[in-house]
Amino acid sequence: MDKLQIVGGKRLNGDIAISGAKNAALPILCAGLLTAGDLDLTNVPRLHDVRTMLRLLEQTGLKVTQDDEHVVLNGANITSLEAPYELVKTMRASILVLGPMLARFGEARVSLPGGCAIGSRPVDQHIKGLRAMGADITIEGGYIHAKCAKLQGTRIHTDMITVTGTENLLMAAVLAEGETILENAAREPEVVDLANMLVAMGAKIEGIGTDRLVIQGVDALHGTKHAVISDRIEAATFLCAVAATGGDIRITNTRTDIFDVALDKLREMGVQLTVEGDTIRARMDGRPQPVSFRTTEYPGFPTDMQAQFMAVDTIARGPSRVTETIFENRFMHVQELNRLGASISTEGNTAFIEGVERLVGAPVMATDLRASASLVIAGLAAEGTTIVDRIYHLDRGYDRMEAKLSAVGADIVRIK
Ligand code: EPZ
Repeated sequence: MDKLQIVGGKRLNGDIAISGAKNAALPILCAGLLTAGDLDLTNVPRLHDVRTMLRLLEQTGLKVTQDDEHVVLNGANITSLEAPYELVKTMRASILVLGPMLARFGEARVSLPGGCAIGSRPVDQHIKGLRAMGADITIEGGYIHAKCAKLQGTRIHTDMITVTGTENLLMAAVLAEGETILENAAREPEVVDLANMLVAMGAKIEGIGTDRLVIQGVDALHGTKHAVISDRIEAATFLCAVAATGGDIRITNTRTDIFDVALDKLREMGVQLTVEGDTIRARMDGRPQPVSFRTTEYPGFPTDMQAQFMAVDTIARGPSRVTETIFENRFMHVQELNRLGASISTEGNTAFIEGVERLVGAPVMATDLRASASLVIAGLAAEGTTIVDRIYHLDRGYDRMEAKLSAVGADIVRIK
């Protein structure tokens, strides 16, 4: 099991290129099931979850060819409509094959994703919406069995805003009979990126970027070329790193218009940010000011940035409070940060952070993807050596993080 060894206290200086967004790439890859044409993708991040999704899709018969720049999918010869447990259990986003399989082939057998460290994460809204479109869905033996001659467009109002729920229902609706209205839809930039690509494939979607999507079903979709949107969570993670260590970095190949709330909070912390085209320059000296926030759906403060900002708050010049409203158990990093000398207490879904003068390196354990990133950030700021164990969690969502950090001056190495 790989570990990261970090010797903290180094300022970060230099350029970091941001990769494509994991949470856009995963639904976009599943959209390859919707067409017999070529889906020619660029800026697909090299991540464990992407490799897992490609393996799952190849098992259905979808053809995948890739070189350094491109991942080309072709769904002309799909031979299996099953997403097996052994793959789904390692990646919940596998549920995203359900909508496309039902839409194009009228059948799917997808293992029910288990829970994960941050919460139970049910998929009841995905199922409720597909049933409303006429799918006959039974759950037995841990599998979702779905059948439907032809999905019918209808109005769907999900009980809560769900990112992959919106994406699954959107991919079902583009080939359904008639009009589908998705109300209470997620507006995350990754949902927008998927929708924009579906339109390029011939789908008819209105209201992209709003909480009400209106889709006119079409008979078939053709292929297209698409560049995956840049990863705003990765960008914010590196900005939190420099906020914690001090330094002067330039984040390149990033969008600068899709995480304003995070940029505002970084400025509140005392980070000097200048935006030039697809580059954000971040300069930081001295200890950060504390920032408080509560996570909400886009365009509010992203839950996927909560752990990273909390790591910076641990060494801020004062107290802060963080409230997590999306997931019921997304404070797994708190105890690990306290092992590094942080002073955090929690009450339900709120964490109270006392800023301390300094953290001290120690062995810590990653528990989920963004918690891992939070421990790396804390280790970069801590005095002495931090060992982050179980970093397979990190590799799921970050493309060679230690390489990007050591290239800007961090003392960080992967230990096999
Ligand atoms: C997506 O997960 C992201 N994953 C998550 O990123 C992200 O944290 C989350 O959205 C929230 O932004 C991908 O896009 C692959 P939800 P998703 O459905 O779609 C409840 C990361 O770190 N809910 O928006 O699974 C659910 O339990 C990952 O990159 C139901 O109750 O999240 C949660 O409390 C972690 N029933 C809330 O809604 C449902 O049918 C939001 O979940 C669906 C969701």
